Amino acid sequence: MRTQVGIVGAGPAGLFLSLLLHRAGVDCVVLEAKSRDYVESRVRAGVLEQGTVDLMDELGAGERLHREGMPDPRLDIRFSGGIIHIDLPVLTPGKIVTVYGQQEVVKDLIAARLNRGGAILFEAEATHIDGLDGKRPTIHFKREGKNDGKHETLECDVVAGCDGFHGICRAAIPENLLTIYDRNLPFGWLGILAEAKPFPEMSYSNHERGFALASRRSPKLSRLYVQCSADEDLAGWPDRRIWDELHTRLYDKDGGELHEGPIVQRGVTPVRSYVAAPMRHGRMFLAGDAVHIVPPTGAKGLNLAVADVRVLSRALIEFFRTGATERLDRYSDTCLKRVWKVTRYSNYMTSLLHRFETHSTFERRVQQAELEYVAGSLAARTTIGENYVGLPFEED
Ligand code: FAD
Ligand code: PHB
Repeated sequence: MRTQVGIVGAGPAGLFLSLLLHRAGVDCVVLEAKSRDYVESRVRAGVLEQGTVDLMDELGAGERLHREGMPDPRLDIRFSGGIIHIDLPVLTPGKIVTVYGQQEVVKDLIAARLNRGGAILFEAEATHIDGLDGKRPTIHFKREGKNDGKHETLECDVVAGCDGFHGICRAAIPENLLTIYDRNLPFGWLGILAEAKPFPEMSYSNHERGFALASRRSPKLSRLYVQCSADEDLAGWPDRRIWDELHTRLYDKDGGELHEGPIVQRGVTPVRSYVAAPMRHGRMFLAGDAVHIVPPTGAKGLNLAVADVRVLSRALIEFFRTGATERLDRYSDTCLKRVWKVTRYSNYMTSLLHRFETHSTFERRVQQAELEYVAGSLAARTTIGENYVGLPFEED
């Protein structure tokens, strides 16, 4: 098989990229290790910046999002001193976010891509890549139940590594050519989906027992999280314990605010902060979680993946139209500017809202003072608001 851009991974990064390239007439093939059903039902992020929504529209994939997504003009931060309201359109000004599950975005993008005759090979796992330093890199992959398990190859001009944190693309770069920046956070999030009327506002909470978050997926479906240990065993969390922790940590004193209901999905997500640089090696360009991870507290992982491929698509389109490589050469530097700003914000929110067992009483007092400061400062609330709705895109 042969194509111009071989895309590894059908997560948000790979799918947005495939539609952007297809629209410009650049040929690409997406290889995805898992089944279509699996990627369409993987519950993950839920907050879309306006730029992400606009791109769904531009790509003709935004129709269901506008019907079912929930425009969200506000977020709350609860802490022992009360509730901080961050009124987005007032602070940003005029901007909001949209709550729409990542798996719904993925479903819409897959449908759009397949309707246009594009190639996504599911259950096609890339195993290794050859020739990254030359002009014709080759992705080797194997397909479940096809070709007697024999390896197939996809020869391309450029490889887009959109295969998430545990993929093979970043790992194909010699270790001495990558600089890794990471912050080890000693906790995870236990997340549930519950058939219960959601909290009225997106509510982040700092509680002495640990962080909690009340989000939603629809008017009848709540998405809720509590801070837990990084290797938390779900077996230790019967439903009652989850609900009790949520009531307590969300300061739902008389139990009347948080509605309970059947828990239909649960899982533990590690909280991690990681950047690898540069985001390119020879003819391979990395995007999204394949090259950086932000803690989920900023709700930025998906949006950052989209920002990367927006820059990458423009550079690739120019390259295939004119042969010019300047934009491709700037790709990593351009993206890393945003990556570091988003890493800064996600780390700030993580530090502000979580319980750190290693904190001294001094550090706890400083965290409390920071919350009091945000509560009383328009400038501090504006800082959170403008990052939450999404910073302006970098010049490239
Ligand atoms: P991914 O979505 O990870 O997509 C990568 C794709 O590559 C996957 O489909 C994978 O199957 C495929 N792949 C991997 N290896 C291969 C291979 N060898 N060959 C072919 N295909 C391969 N962010 C938030 O903002 N809020 C959240 O609540 C939140 N929860 C999360 C929960 C979990 C468990 C995880 C892992 C992430 C979560 N994130 C969250 C982060 C957010 O979901 C990611 O930032 C986003 O998915 C990044 O998109 P991506 O396309 O770069 O990577
Ligand atoms: C979600 O709805 O899943 C969600 C919302 C906000 C976050 C993280 C996840 O910061």
